[in-house]
Amino acid sequence: MIAAVKGFRDVLPEESRRWQALEDAARELFLAYGFGEIRLPILERTELFARSVGETSDIVEKEMYGFIDRDGTSLTLRPEATASVARAYIEGNLGRADAQARLFYIGPMFRRERPQKGRYRQFYQIGAELLGRADPLADAELLLLLARYLERVGARETRLELNSLGDETCRPVYRERLRKFGERHLDVLCPDCHRRLERNPLRLLDCKVEACRQVMADAPVMRDSLCADCAAHLGQLRALLDQERVPYVMNFRIVRGLDYYRRTAFEVVAEGLGAQNAVGAGGRYDGLVAALGGPDVPGVGFALGLDRLGVATSAGALASGPAAVILPLEERAVGPAFALATRLRQQGLSVGLEPAGRSLKALLRSADRRGARLAVILGEEELQVGRATVRDLVRGQDRRQVLTLDASGPELASAVQALVGADG
Ligand code: HAM
Repeated sequence: MIAAVKGFRDVLPEESRRWQALEDAARELFLAYGFGEIRLPILERTELFARSVGETSDIVEKEMYGFIDRDGTSLTLRPEATASVARAYIEGNLGRADAQARLFYIGPMFRRERPQKGRYRQFYQIGAELLGRADPLADAELLLLLARYLERVGARETRLELNSLGDETCRPVYRERLRKFGERHLDVLCPDCHRRLERNPLRLLDCKVEACRQVMADAPVMRDSLCADCAAHLGQLRALLDQERVPYVMNFRIVRGLDYYRRTAFEVVAEGLGAQNAVGAGGRYDGLVAALGGPDVPGVGFALGLDRLGVATSAGALASGPAAVILPLEERAVGPAFALATRLRQQGLSVGLEPAGRSLKALLRSADRRGARLAVILGEEELQVGRATVRDLVRGQDRRQVLTLDASGPELASAVQALVGADG
């Protein structure tokens, strides 16, 4: 057997049905907040990620899937999409009439991380980016959208954690303080952290090695180094979130694994997901568009991980089986059963159809396994009177000979809908 590549997987119908519900909810809600969908390429020039996500980030250093194209260009499967959105903004001159652009995207990303539950090498994100706005109202609007979305899809056990990472004025000061702190603990820090100290001391706060974590628990935090402008931005954002009752907690240890963040940075963690419990994250990236050669346009955004969100919401009402499964009890009933299924499907109802030749008990068990609400039974008696018997599989009740076989599609569909909706 040829197996799928390590860290890559198939999303099977049950899971993808949940994903579709998550995607539908995003499309509907994001549009209400003025965001339009952008479909981005999956392949970009490697330098796009090196310059935006950062040369010293784990993603660029060790997790990218890239190759040299036949013409010598270095290409990479996108590890995230914010860089591509910034590129598209510049390339498509999206700020021409109005500097503000509100874009969302849904699609696969690729990172060569160590696979484990909730962490894949191909994973999927739903993301939203708001470019052209530096004011804290933009951050607040985006976080409100994120909170409303999580509420709508039934991801209730989530927590929004917020931080400010400062800007080009105050971050270098903080970085220096961190470097000095790290240098005092060189004997304990791991070899990776020694390297981080040289190249990007902020990453010290991200280390997973227990000894390093213990040392870093006492490290200085960004909050104490924020300049007046950054502190005011954070203060205004918090006031707006409080006003709209968006729940959040401050977490001054969030540094994020991507280099483009300025000021606002946040993560959404969900209960019960195990080690990989971040369902989403984002922040502000004011220097990014300019760093990629575009105008000096600020931006703020987030991305949600579908693979994890699908699990965090699986207990909810998003998943549903077919409305009905048609069960022909004998060979003679196959034709009428097929006709019935076809007419109902043409009306947009989700309908299953079983082959004949098994006992009623076995057929009912199949219908139940498929998560159907109704079983439509076609036996000798039903064929004689021209009306099928319907069993409500949830309530365990039979309605004998209620569905008229020669009725029109719309009549059949409304009869089935009435039976499904009988008790809500
Ligand atoms: P990120 O934190 O790297 O941010 O990823 C966002 C979300 O994608 C994570 O919270 C997680 O749910 C999901 N995710 C990341 N890696 C994996 C993986 N290997 N397997 C499964 N899920 C994963 C970004 O990507 C930024 N572009 C977010 C952003 C948008 N910032 C500003 N705008």
